[in-house]
Amino acid sequence: MSKVALVTGITGQDGSYLAEILLDKGYDVWGIIRRASNINTSRIEHIFDKLTLRYGDLTDSSNLLLILAEISTKYVSNLDVFEIYNLAAMSHVKVSFEMPEYTSNVDGTGTLRLLEAMRSCSIPNEKIKFYQASTSELYGKVVEVPQTETTPFYPRSPYGVAKLYGYWITKNYREAYDLFACSGILFNHESPRRAHNFVTRKITIGLGKILRGEQDKLVLGNLTSLRDWGHAKDYAMGMWLILQQDKPDDYVLSTNEYHSVKEFVEKSFALKGFDIKWKGEGTNEVGYDEKTGRELIFVSEKYFRPTEVDELLGDSTKARTELGWKPEHSFDELVAEMVEADC
Ligand code: NAP
Ligand code: GDD
Repeated sequence: MSKVALVTGITGQDGSYLAEILLDKGYDVWGIIRRASNINTSRIEHIFDKLTLRYGDLTDSSNLLLILAEISTKYVSNLDVFEIYNLAAMSHVKVSFEMPEYTSNVDGTGTLRLLEAMRSCSIPNEKIKFYQASTSELYGKVVEVPQTETTPFYPRSPYGVAKLYGYWITKNYREAYDLFACSGILFNHESPRRAHNFVTRKITIGLGKILRGEQDKLVLGNLTSLRDWGHAKDYAMGMWLILQQDKPDDYVLSTNEYHSVKEFVEKSFALKGFDIKWKGEGTNEVGYDEKTGRELIFVSEKYFRPTEVDELLGDSTKARTELGWKPEHSFDELVAEMVEADC
């Protein structure tokens, strides 16, 4: 009997770690990739031959129906379990202000399309499980600290609002059609595979370029934001655990500690011998190396968001208790691994 998984967003940071975990656990792993003018499979190059990949897009119902029909036919008499992990998304908060309609189409309606395709395929309900990549951005302008599964949502971006739809439609389909459909409400998670335009990776890549003399400064946006940053590998394991429970439910995954953007800068630069101190305020704030006086970090409004999420801090007690999940990487280990990879 086959254990089969379909991962949307398999070419992304989380998709690549999840695919590794699923292969290790003996799943037949299928993935949906987008057609691009250039290669976009670099994160899964090392496992490429072990995956079954199909072109598709969450904005296109027809390909989702076809892929699910293909999987249903192939495993018709030989299926133990079929797990669908919906990780595909336009995942950048700032970009979502520039592409709000597209973001809602992919991150919101795209989730509905996949749920509908799953509902109409011939695999019986009791063999299918669905994971939705929900996010701590749902808490946005937080109404309580720390945030748990019961904290009310207050999204602050088109991305957050689209993901709110994804969260609720997943819950609605669970209740309406008795589907094993779950959300992981994941706080920020990073790695050396993080895309270059998220703040952590931008910092470690910038540090590497400064060390190599390829750039002389790093320009960032809001330095005071606080994030609960974990390691993507730990969170991918949490996704799998969420689908291994007896009953479908929603879980927060978080480290339960938060750090500022400034702190991420200080820690990563310290690993390469800099002692970053700050002077000035607002857009005039500058980070400089106390040993040499060299000014290295600058602020530009260009990276501000129209509405910011100032602080996110999770409480993942439920996941730790019910799933036996906990992060294996500390904040310091995460920073060190990213600095090592980029420098
Ligand atoms: P990521 O690196 O940006 O990966 C996103 C994936 O989605 C990529 O494979 C991308 O394909 C694919 N994709 C984008 N638009 C698509 C579309 N229209 N149709 C099909 N595929 C599409 O994101 P990530 O960090 O791995 O995050 C995975 C999921 O978790 C996302 O849904 C994200 O919103 C959510 N999430 C992430 C975090 C975090 O801190 N990382 C926290 C909470 C929730 P290409 O490679 O072709 O671009
Ligand atoms: N990207 C970016 N670039 N962010 C910056 C910069 C910069 O130059 N300077 C400061 N920041 C601040 C942002 O304003 C934000 O407050 C914080 O750093 C983190 O930004 P990102 O790394 O872009 O992540 P995010 O928190 O907005 O969103 C990520 O985490 C969410 C979960 O909470 C993404 O992975 C989302 O997809 C995910 O849902």
